[in-house]
Amino acid sequence: MKKITAVVLAAGRGTRMKSDTPKVMHGLLGKPIIWYVLNALKAAGIKDIIVVAGYGSRMLKGELGGARMVLQKKLLGSGDAVNSAKRFLKFRTGDILVTCGDAPLIRPETLKRLIGKHRSSGASATVLTAKVKDPSGYGRMIRDDNKKILKIAEDKDASVYEGSIDEINVGTYCFKYADLFAALSKVRSNNSKKEFYLTDTLSIIRSGMSKPVESVLAEDESEVIGINTRADLAEASMRLKNMVLRGLMADGVTIEDPSTTIIHPGVKIGRDTVIKPNTIIGSNVTIGKGCEIGPFARIRPGTRIADSAEIGNFVELVRTTIGKGTKVKHHTYLGDAVVGKGVNVGAATITANYDGKNKHKTVIEDGAFIGVGAILIAPVKIGRRATVGAGCVVPKGHNVPPGVTVVGVPAKILK
Ligand code: UD1
Ligand code: CA
Repeated sequence: MKKITAVVLAAGRGTRMKSDTPKVMHGLLGKPIIWYVLNALKAAGIKDIIVVAGYGSRMLKGELGGARMVLQKKLLGSGDAVNSAKRFLKFRTGDILVTCGDAPLIRPETLKRLIGKHRSSGASATVLTAKVKDPSGYGRMIRDDNKKILKIAEDKDASVYEGSIDEINVGTYCFKYADLFAALSKVRSNNSKKEFYLTDTLSIIRSGMSKPVESVLAEDESEVIGINTRADLAEASMRLKNMVLRGLMADGVTIEDPSTTIIHPGVKIGRDTVIKPNTIIGSNVTIGKGCEIGPFARIRPGTRIADSAEIGNFVELVRTTIGKGTKVKHHTYLGDAVVGKGVNVGAATITANYDGKNKHKTVIEDGAFIGVGAILIAPVKIGRRATVGAGCVVPKGHNVPPGVTVVGVPAKILK
């Protein structure tokens, strides 16, 4: 791709969130909001990314990946935020893509379409718009009789007629470098928020500078949601969740009850696996083919489940590997465990993986049988085809040899 720098606006405090955490650091299905924005930009092929931070910038630092951070000293509005990135721009030619750190669901394809149209049309500015059912809170797109963009009317400054327009400004734009900064120098803060609005640059470019402004309409209303409140966060979470579930179903996974199933983005699940109701699957989880998961299962990050395994109700797994055909069907906690093939883990089995300071591993080898209510104190190993009796406590380091049966508290080999 030709030279393009992305500027992500993320300095805002997010007043409407009523939070001590900067808005873009709030979690959305396991990752901070800004993570999604940066990910989409990278997936669209943009390598040079600047994040404009302000409120809580220290908390943002760890989440930036390869992006650079600049500080907006005073939060004077989105126009001022872009201006504060100017000194850090490497190229004085080329294009600048501006997007908001609080709009996490924009797809890379949409960003590419925006950049494509901007370049092919030769416009000075190209803005991403969307038609939405409820435009309140967003800037409205005001067009002339030829459907060309005249200006953006901010929600708080819009007339009654303008407020009724259902085409909104998503907050994502492409600009030619020189035209952007020429227009920004003319933006004034004579509006209801007393802020320097980035959105005013469009009317300045169109009417003041007589240069072309174009637009691209986003296809999916879900993509364009900007998070300003906790209710918006819940809405975005629901939409993202549905996108993830639809993707998995398209790949051959049965989700019995999408309304009670939460699966984080990036989870891989093989075909013909059935996810039963009220199941939560965290990020960085892989599940094989033909498994049965849930109802009421909680599969946490770092878990790998091989084909044909069955994970039942009230089972929690974290950083755990489950072998092919293994069954963990009721009321069980396995943390930092490596469980082999064809293992049966009885109801209410618990790995005591945390000693108050460190976490330790439990290994359960192929074909082992763990009786109900067993407590396995890590680090410990249960050998191949060994049997652990019901209610047995296996102390740490007391590895159970292959093939034997242990019973009691503490576990002893049954002769
Ligand atoms: C903004 C747009 C609006 C659009 C909407 C899309 C402006 C003036 N309005 O409104 O047209 O429909 O986004 O969601 O841009 N920010 C800074 N520094 C500041 C102020 C804001 O970095 O001084 C950042 C915020 O962190 C946020 C973004 O800019 O990520 C937009 O600011 P916000 O206050 O959320 O604007 P909206 O009212 O949502
Ligand atoms: Ca916003």
